[in-house]
Order: sequence, then structure tokens, then C-alpha cells
Amino acid sequence: MNILCLHGPNLNMLGLREPAIYGTVTMEEINQALQQEATAGQVILECKQSNHEGELVGWIHDARQKFDGILLNAGALTHTSIALRDAISAAGVPTVEVHLSNIHARESFRHHSMIAAVCLGQIAGFGKQSYLLGLKALIASAR
Ligand code: DQA
Repeated sequence: MNILCLHGPNLNMLGLREPAIYGTVTMEEINQALQQEATAGQVILECKQSNHEGELVGWIHDARQKFDGILLNAGALTHTSIALRDAISAAGVPTVEVHLSNIHARESFRHHSMIAAVCLGQIAGFGKQSYLLGLKALIASAR
């Protein structure tokens, strides 16, 4: 099984960025933890980050041929991007939405997700564990 993990805008800044909200874990540490989980589950995992909506859209399109699932933290694009939502629909690759913070307990503009309706589900509020739970959910639903 092949899973693609995509991190959206500003997630490359984890560790430095608003530690009171996002903690001090870095994106590299999250990726390493995901790789361990993937290896244990005999899954091949690729992790990528982009600050550009179009690049993420392209990667989601390309996932159609290569991946069985997408683990996606779209960052702020979660709340704004109809293009990402349409890309997930168009690609048809089962996608799990994850967030480090509990977006529903934050500013009202973060309460709505443009992508939630086209994802298998959403996991938010558990920091690094949101990604690990999301990966487990993807693997379990793809098997
Ligand atoms: C985030 C939540 C978003 O609202 C925010 O814009 C992010 C990170 C999270 O992981 O908690 O960049 O997706």
C-alpha cells in the first residue's frame, strides 16, 4: 500500500511557529514518526510540503495513479480552498484531513473546512498524534 502525506502552507515552520498552539514538534519529526508507523504497517509512505496551492493541487491529481490514500494537513487552505476540495474529488483517492490544533475550538474562520465533505474523515486537536491516528485510519480503511 502507498500513502502520500501532504503538508500545506506554513507547516514547514512547525517547531518555531506559535508553539503555544502547535507545540515544538517539527515537520521532520512528524514525518519520522509517520515513517515508523508506516514501516510497522508494511506501508510505503511519501511526505511532501508546499506553501503553494497549485503545487498541492497537482500532487493530489498525480496521486491518482500512484497512491492508495492521502493524509492531508492543508493548513490555512483548509478554510479557503475550493480548488483543493475539487482536486480531492477529481482524484478520487481516499483522503483523511488532519490538523494539529482543534480548529473547532479556535477562531470562527477556522471552524469551516472546505475539504471535510470530500474526505473520509477529519482528526483535529491531537498534535503529532493527529497525523498518526490519521495514518492508522487510512490504512485500516484501505485494507
Ligand atoms: C492547522 C490549522 C489551520 O487553521 C492553520 O491555518 C494551520 C494549521 C493545524 O494543523 O492545526 O496552518 O491546519
